[in-house]
Amino acid sequence: MQRNPSQNMVYHDLGIKAAQSLVTIKPRTFIELGEQSLKATREFLSDQLAVKFARRLDLFETLPALMPYIDRGLLGSVRQDYLDWFQRIRDPAVAKEPDNFAATLDFLRHRHHDAVSRTVWGVREILRKNGERLRSGDSDVEAYAAEEQLQHFLTDLFKKYIRFELVMNHYLLARQSGDSTAILNKGSLRDTIGIALDNSTGLCRTRRGFSPNVDVQTSTPAVLTTPTPHFRRPIHYVTQELLKNALRATVESAKYSGNGQASYPSVRLECDATAEGGYMVRVTDRGDGINKEAMDKVWSFLYTTAEFPPDLTYETWKREPKLAGFGCGLPISRLYANFLGGDLTLESTEGKGTQATLTLPPLVIR
Ligand SMILES: Nc1ncnc2c1ncn2[C@@H]1O[C@H](COP(=O)(O)OP(=O)(O)OP(=O)(O)O)[C@@H](O)[C@H]1O
Ligand SMILES: [Mg+2]
Repeated sequence: MQRNPSQNMVYHDLGIKAAQSLVTIKPRTFIELGEQSLKATREFLSDQLAVKFARRLDLFETLPALMPYIDRGLLGSVRQDYLDWFQRIRDPAVAKEPDNFAATLDFLRHRHHDAVSRTVWGVREILRKNGERLRSGDSDVEAYAAEEQLQHFLTDLFKKYIRFELVMNHYLLARQSGDSTAILNKGSLRDTIGIALDNSTGLCRTRRGFSPNVDVQTSTPAVLTTPTPHFRRPIHYVTQELLKNALRATVESAKYSGNGQASYPSVRLECDATAEGGYMVRVTDRGDGINKEAMDKVWSFLYTTAEFPPDLTYETWKREPKLAGFGCGLPISRLYANFLGGDLTLESTEGKGTQATLTLPPLVIR
């Protein structure tokens, strides 16, 4: 492909930024950023976002099995976006001017979220249309390698996404409120969990016509009600995904009595302080559970047992989200848990139900 001189400059700059390494963002990073001036955070973000976009463009090249299909469809449009964003963030007028930078960040924050979903959707589409060929390869080794590459690509995509989403929000919130720790929610866990509960039961009612009951329980009531600094987004996201899975499992395992009346056992949502000073969120259902073979797969991206109509388009799915079927809820949730230094585990007995437990250490600030 012939490039003009200005395109040559962009690609030269892209090469330089792609060769730079990304700073690993940890919970502590937000405290360190909070201690710096907003100008320093702006410079950090401006530099790191450029590296991220440049490396993301490179990463597409690490999916040889998908390469022949990338230029068409959603993945092609995502790749084009990364190139566009790279140029925006490298524009000196954006990097140096706070209002301009905040407006660009706000734009990127929304588009970034969409781009990540479009990437997953794009990969799914390619696999659906060409899956047998891609996943089977010519040999078992090739099939394994293609699957490994894909899981690695999606893990990396989401790992970086959840961190950068928080840093972008950090800058915008701190700028708006004048509070450099505004990214840490100072409310109670009850509020954060309450939003997840409302969203998931609301989604279940819209999609399945009703929602099973959810019992909220705690043996350490203070943990629910005492204002405590926490990252709202990760806890909210994980609780919501676990509840969605539990509600779906409960609905789909309905037991019918003699008169045709269905009964649905309640889902239990527990939130307790832990002996270590952190807390845990546990969701228990009495659905059909997960069998041993499926248990090995549930942490893989794109694994789902939900029906997904083959003619469903990305735009329709975005407007009318489903209770399940994207095949990303559990793996993303575990990435969020790990980011916070915690873990997410699943125990299940076929025919009896499932228990998912998120454990988080105390928020380590120093
Ligand atoms: N509580 C549960 N009971 C039974 N099966 C479950 C439960 N939680 C997860 N699973 C199984 O694990 C699969 C993967 O779950 P995951 O949340 O990652 O994806 P999903 O629910 O299919 O789609 P989405 O990304 O939209 O949530 C589910 O499709 C389901 O088969
Ligand atoms: Mg799910």
